[in-house]
Amino acid sequence: MCGISGYIGNKDAYPIIINGLKRLEYRGYDSAGVLMYDGAEINLSKTKGKVSALEEITNKDPKRKEGNIGIGHTRWATHGVPNDLNSHPHLSQSGDLAIVHNGIIENYDTLRKELISRGYTFQSDTDTEVLVNLIEEVKKQEKCKLGKAVQMALTQVTGAYAIAVFDKKKPNEIVVAKLGSPIAIGIGKNNKEFFIASDASPFIEFTKNAVYLEDEEMAIIKLGRDIRVRKIMNDLQIETSIQELQLSLEQIEKGGYDHFMIKEIHEQPKAIIDTYRGRMLADQGIIKMAGVDDNLEKFLNAERIIIVACGTSWHAGLVGEYLFEDMARIPVEVEYASEFRYRNPIISSKDIVIAISQSGETADTLAAIKLAKSKGAFVFGVCNVVGSSIARETDAGAYTHAGPEIGVASTKAFTTQITVLSLIALKLAKAKGTLSNSAFHTYLQKMQLIPSKVEKLLQLDEKVKEIARVYKDAKNCLYLGRGFNFPVALEGALKLKEISYIHAEGYPAAEMKHGPIALIDENMPIFVIATNKGHYDKVVSNIQEIKSRSGKIIAIVTEGDVTVKEIADHVIEIPETEEALTPLLTTIPFQLLSYHIAVMLDKNVDQPRNLAKSVTVE
Ligand code: F6R
Repeated sequence: MCGISGYIGNKDAYPIIINGLKRLEYRGYDSAGVLMYDGAEINLSKTKGKVSALEEITNKDPKRKEGNIGIGHTRWATHGVPNDLNSHPHLSQSGDLAIVHNGIIENYDTLRKELISRGYTFQSDTDTEVLVNLIEEVKKQEKCKLGKAVQMALTQVTGAYAIAVFDKKKPNEIVVAKLGSPIAIGIGKNNKEFFIASDASPFIEFTKNAVYLEDEEMAIIKLGRDIRVRKIMNDLQIETSIQELQLSLEQIEKGGYDHFMIKEIHEQPKAIIDTYRGRMLADQGIIKMAGVDDNLEKFLNAERIIIVACGTSWHAGLVGEYLFEDMARIPVEVEYASEFRYRNPIISSKDIVIAISQSGETADTLAAIKLAKSKGAFVFGVCNVVGSSIARETDAGAYTHAGPEIGVASTKAFTTQITVLSLIALKLAKAKGTLSNSAFHTYLQKMQLIPSKVEKLLQLDEKVKEIARVYKDAKNCLYLGRGFNFPVALEGALKLKEISYIHAEGYPAAEMKHGPIALIDENMPIFVIATNKGHYDKVVSNIQEIKSRSGKIIAIVTEGDVTVKEIADHVIEIPETEEALTPLLTTIPFQLLSYHIAVMLDKNVDQPRNLAKSVTVE
């Protein structure tokens, strides 16, 4: 998982590439590098650390920034520890070729040995340096141009890649290729400039026209010429499809907030509306979703729905299980994509697989989809990133329309995924007749009120901040919920651990007495979801059990609650709604709480250690 940013044209390439890398740091940020060509010489700058560390180097020597062509990289280490040498770009042995790479070359060791036997030496531990030397070797052997050499070299490679390759001897072109990792090409007016990036965010202010390469495609980007896209395996030229981007610059900037995470938390009312806008016609009592409508028979006849996802998206999938089974009476299994893909699961053509992914690039989810498709299942995607690999790989799908999520900790992706899953469950329930007409209408009315209720909850920010101040030094926390709110407990714990590095566990409230209760003492904060519907009395009993063991109770209750208020140390009230919709509300205080604790502990909220926004490797 890494970010690639490149430019070729008539502008100064450096600021475009560096700003692009900063926007792509969500993809990895353990080292960064940039290669500039100033018309005569290559200038390579790279370092361990963030893009800001790279800037410190280039600022000391302005020559490093000169030129109208360059390629840059922000890394999330796979092969080789994060250090200066392993940072990209990597040069070939002759120093003529340079490469940036996102992905993993699985057979790099064999290729490396082969190249060593031909006299190559290596400066780094990376698979990427092997690839650039392989390209150089092919170019030398075949006496061919760069494009051909890249294509032939890639036929020898197994693994995943998005690459951009530059040849000092042909300084008016960059060759890019893709398999498994994303790459987009922004096209300037009259082909006078081109932008290369892992997603469109680095070039959004320069052009709205972009080509997204598909797997096993490569393109030769040459100034003044239309982009030519070819298939890597058979060298066939294919028609180039130019897409018009919907992204705006404002959407990818912080807009006055200190961090992307808090901006994205506050965007949720709008994101939820954007997700159901045009789909949920509450007044008419209709839910329109093209991906479901076009395949309604398949959904209605499905013997089972299997949801595959990772991390937060998996938590949304768990909420989906409760929704589908409760409303539409379809059996559901929720699987970690990473387990599903390798455990030889039973899948048949009567199954529907729903793959959930914010980024649409998660390697395990993508592999689970491919497996399901190979067994004949119909695969439906719930993705946020338009045009992402998962969106393209699935048979049909529904976008979440949350807008770009830059903060590594997922927030608005989660609530919009639940929104999409609720719409699908309601739609199927209506079509199957498993939900009465009046209940269906009530849900639509209540769903329409969710954004304003989320807005109201966001106004509790100060209160949540006070609670954060009390518990910020806790070493361990427990999150408990039942029914629809059990997945929210898991998600609350994940949010806390990933950005504040405090150990936290989520549990179904009733499971507490089967083990975790042993952990409770006066130092243990326990966050309990105790909304008035859904097992309220039973959760109240759990709260009593915690109290009698001196645990600190922070409860999320429904407005007007009396009982829990008397027992808990702190309460946060959520507005009343249908039980099935409560996850859209109960998750908000947990997001705010994790955010404030991480800020108070001076952690890097948007780029927590060791994490990357989308995990495109196993
Ligand atoms: C947690 C988080 C991760 C992702 C997971 C799946 O805040 O962001 O757990 O949810 O890596 O990513 P996507 O949804 O992009 O497939």
